[in-house]
Amino acid sequence: MKVIVEKNYDELSKRAASLLEEEIRNNPELVLGLATGSTPVGTYEELIRAHRERGLDFSKVSTFNLDEYIGLDGEHPNSYRYFMNEKLFDHININKEKTYVPNGKAQNPIDYCAEYDGDIERAGGIDIQILGIGTNGHIAFNEPADELSVGTSVVQLTKSTIEDNSRFFDSMDEVPKTAISMGIGSILKARKIILLASGKNKAPIMQKLLKENVISTKLPASLLLLHPDVTVIVDEDAYNI
Ligand code: F6R
Repeated sequence: MKVIVEKNYDELSKRAASLLEEEIRNNPELVLGLATGSTPVGTYEELIRAHRERGLDFSKVSTFNLDEYIGLDGEHPNSYRYFMNEKLFDHININKEKTYVPNGKAQNPIDYCAEYDGDIERAGGIDIQILGIGTNGHIAFNEPADELSVGTSVVQLTKSTIEDNSRFFDSMDEVPKTAISMGIGSILKARKIILLASGKNKAPIMQKLLKENVISTKLPASLLLLHPDVTVIVDEDAYNI
C-alpha cells in the first residue's frame, strides 16, 4: 500500500482528483469504480472543476458504483443514484447510460447481483476503484463478519453503519437495513484502488489498517493489503491518532 498524507480534506480531494484526471487523460475510455458518502464529495467537485476549466472529457468514461440501498429508487433523495447524479454526473459530459449504480428496486436482488458483476466484466473490468472506509473498517457495504462475499451481494447493514449513515436521513428508522454491495472479490479485481480517509473519526481504523499489517474479515479493508496497487490518501486528522 502506498500511503499519501495530505494536510487537510481539500488537499486530499485535489490529490485524488489529479490522479484521476491523469488516468482519464491517458485513457479516455477509463472504467471508474465510484463510491458515495461524504469522503469523495470534494474529489467529485475537483473533477467537475477539471471538466469546466480544463475540458476534462468524460464522454467515453464508464462508471460502476459500489453500492445502493435496497428499497430506494433513483429518484429518492437518499439513494446513491440520486447522490451520484447530484454530486457528479449532472455536472460533467458523461453518458448516463454508461453510469452504473446497483438497482435498489431490482425485482430479484440476488439474480441482479450476478448481473451487476457481469456488467462490470463486459465493460472490461474496473481500471480504478475509489473507496471510502467505514469507521468499522467496511469497504463498500462489506461489513465486519466471519465471512465476506466475493461477488456483489445483498448485505445487512450493521448497527454502527446505520448510525453513521443516519445523518443523511430524518431519523434512524428511515435508514434502510439492507443494501446491494460489490463484494470484496469484485473490488480486488480492480486494476488500481484509491482509498480515501478524512477526519478524526477515521483515525482509529486507519491506525489499525496501516500499522498492524494483518488481514481479517473483521476488518474488511485489510483485504486490500493483498492487492498490488493500492494508494491510500489520508489527511492528517485521519492519519494521526
Ligand atoms: C459508499 C460506501 C461506504 C463509504 C463509507 C465511508 O459507497 O461504499 O463504504 O465509503 O461508509 O463513508 P463516508 O465517506 O461518508 O465516511
